[in-house]
Parts: sequence; C-alpha cells; structure tokens
Amino acid sequence: MERTLVLLKPDAVQRHLTGPILSRFEQKGLKLVGMKMRCFPLDTIQQHYSDHAARPFYPNLVKFMTSGPVVAMAFDGKDAIAVVRTLVGATNAREAAPGTIRGDFGMSFSNNMVHASDSTESATKELALFFSEPGDLNDWEPSDLAWSYNVEEELS
Ligand code: CMP
Repeated sequence: MERTLVLLKPDAVQRHLTGPILSRFEQKGLKLVGMKMRCFPLDTIQQHYSDHAARPFYPNLVKFMTSGPVVAMAFDGKDAIAVVRTLVGATNAREAAPGTIRGDFGMSFSNNMVHASDSTESATKELALFFSEPGDLNDWEPSDLAWSYNVEEELS
C-alpha cells in the first residue's frame, strides 16, 4: 500500500469542483485518510514548491496557491501514487486526455486544479508538510476491501 498527497487548488474550490474531483478518487477505490481545507501560509506553499523556485512561473504559482482555500487530501491504495497521477492527467489541462480530471474539467496549464505527489520521496515529504498535526491522518479498514482487491493476490 502507498499513501499520496493531493491538493485541490484554489481554482477547483472556486469552480465548485471539490466534490466531483474527490468522487473520481473515491470511485476509483482509493481510500481517503486525510482531508483539510485551509488558506495555507505562504511559507508552506513556498516549501511545497521549492523545487520550482528558480522557474519563471514560480512567483505566479505561489501567488495563485495562496489566493484562496486549498483542499489537501491524503489517499491510500496499492500503487496509489501512480494511480492518482494517471487519474489527474497531464500538467497542461489543454493537453490532458479525456477521462482524466484535468482533461475533463480544465483548459489551463497554470490553473490545473490538482497537485499530486510524483514519487514516494515527494509523497513522504509533502504529506509531512500538509498533515503534520496529530489526528490529521486516519487509518481505517474499508468494509469492501475484499471486493476492491483480490487480497490474497494483491495485498499479502
Ligand atoms: P503541479 O502538479 O502542482 O506542479 C507544479 C505546478 O507548476 C504545476 O502543477 C503547474 O500548475 C505549474 N506549472 C508547471 N509548469 C508550468 C508552466 N510551464 N507554466 C505555468 N505553470 C506551470
């Protein structure tokens, strides 16, 4: 099992897409283990995007990500990091495949609605940044686990 971070960016919240986007992840079978809505502080966003600090789009990215509430979510699942990235689609929403979240809901490179961790290292770092308080993450056993997976083949 892997755990990954998803951020619904301010454009997703403003466009009333929080529910539809969350549904995509839930319907896929990913397990929601953490969720919080915040106007995250500037330093949290700067830290989150520190790898992009030298890129020309960085100032606008930080401004955008601090322009309104963001919904941070944590999901568990087998190969969850790759599964979530596939569901989200290409970074430029204009080029994202139909059926993906960005492909179905967006037209922008910058306002691309969703951030998703791209590796186990990023997921570990990003989850620690956005879910640092006790009780932020909640492990629970889905009652349909044995229907969502072949437990013997895939989870043991
Ligand atoms: P995200 O997956 O959150 O990771 C970094 C973000 O930077 C990316 O989504 C885009 O929102 C933004 N981004 C990446 N490349 C560009 C670009 N060339 N122009 C504008 N924004 C970009």
